[in-house]
Amino acid sequence: MRILIVGGGGREHALAWRLAQSPRVSALLACPGNPGIAQLATCLPQPDSTAAYADLAAAHRIDLTIVGPEAPLVDGIVDRFRQRGLKIVGPTQAAARLEGSKIFAKQFFDRAGIPTAWSVQTGTTAEAVHHLKDFSFPLVIKADGLAAGKGVVIAQNRGEAESAMERLGPALVLEEFLEGEEVSFIGLSNGSLLFRFAPTQDHKRLIDGDHGPNTGGMGAYCDNRILTSAQNDEIMDRIMLPALGQMRKEGTPFTGFLYAGLMMTATGPKVLEFNVRLGDPETQSLMVSYRGDFAELLDLVANGTSPMGEPAWADPSVCVVIAAEGYPDKPATGRVITGISEAERAGAVVFHAGTQLSADGQLVSAGGRVLGITAAGETLEQAQQNAYSAVSKIKMEGAQYRRDIAQKGLRRW
Ligand SMILES: Nc1ncnc2c1ncn2[C@@H]1O[C@H](COP(=O)(O)OP(=O)(O)O)[C@@H](O)[C@H]1O
Ligand SMILES: [Mg+2]
Repeated sequence: MRILIVGGGGREHALAWRLAQSPRVSALLACPGNPGIAQLATCLPQPDSTAAYADLAAAHRIDLTIVGPEAPLVDGIVDRFRQRGLKIVGPTQAAARLEGSKIFAKQFFDRAGIPTAWSVQTGTTAEAVHHLKDFSFPLVIKADGLAAGKGVVIAQNRGEAESAMERLGPALVLEEFLEGEEVSFIGLSNGSLLFRFAPTQDHKRLIDGDHGPNTGGMGAYCDNRILTSAQNDEIMDRIMLPALGQMRKEGTPFTGFLYAGLMMTATGPKVLEFNVRLGDPETQSLMVSYRGDFAELLDLVANGTSPMGEPAWADPSVCVVIAAEGYPDKPATGRVITGISEAERAGAVVFHAGTQLSADGQLVSAGGRVLGITAAGETLEQAQQNAYSAVSKIKMEGAQYRRDIAQKGLRRW
């Protein structure tokens, strides 16, 4: 099988790494890829339209395409490929609205009877201000459209709420603040069934102890103990399967990766949002923990066959993100990175995210999140130790990373 990966971050490097180990894969290509992916795949420049992606896939005789980021899905890359008879894993443009519009998603949760935070949706700032009386603080304010992780504000008072409303624009979701533990629940669907991945937890905030600004994600871990089997069943029966059923009923069946961002509240799991693709950095951890043939799984789903059975999950794993100085506001680019082979000898997989080769061939930082150091272990504690001993080998001036990835899991058990 010749596989094309769309994207060029840590998530896509993890996919390439896992796919490269499948005996079914004869060639791997990536658009645009990154220097880490380039060690496993042929990297090609990023096409500028969904039509150009389809041309590229046809020209390179690609058997199967997998899409990392949300933007091409929301732009309709899956519809375009299917019109051209090209196999691709992902949701159609209509199904991608689950992530592309938070207002659509909230109204969808209501139609499907899926548990979620109580909310109102607004179309003008005046309307949003008027609804402030319906909520107490903290109040969660979400911009309707894709915002690359910058579209949600948790306002502590009226002043913060009003300035967030100004900044986020008129189309908003205002919703009640939920207390609990956040879990990323990801599955792969052929439209009716869901192949469930192991649960993961992301660490969104920049600083240890969940302090500081929100980021794209500073680390993740994967451990089956994050959810009990009763909780798993409840999430499948009350959230994931009803979502797939409602999408079919509305004539827009959901195919591809469905990622529920959940809050495990005192009254059960509630959906904060759906993403229509894999998470970053959850994928780095999932790919290190997954033991099946990922290419086979993707191929089954792309053919509409139901991915059956329970997945083969091996040991727990931990991914620690190394970010550039100044991230998330103004990440320093061009910083020299060394120590990758030492980190790999220490037992970790080093996934590239924001890296680049300089003119003189040195690996340098080229984005906010630079590397994802990912390691498995027989226990979560061991995985954490393995990941951090590899992290200590990486040298980059001004590097920022959290020292407590997976700590919230370890505290619980
Ligand atoms: N209703 C809520 N109650 C408490 N925290 C929330 C709520 N909704 C979102 N959050 C917090 O804000 C983060 C971002 O919200 P989310 O809906 O996932 O949007 P996005 O990922 O598009 O920024 C969540 O990961 C969670 O930490
Ligand atoms: Mg989210």
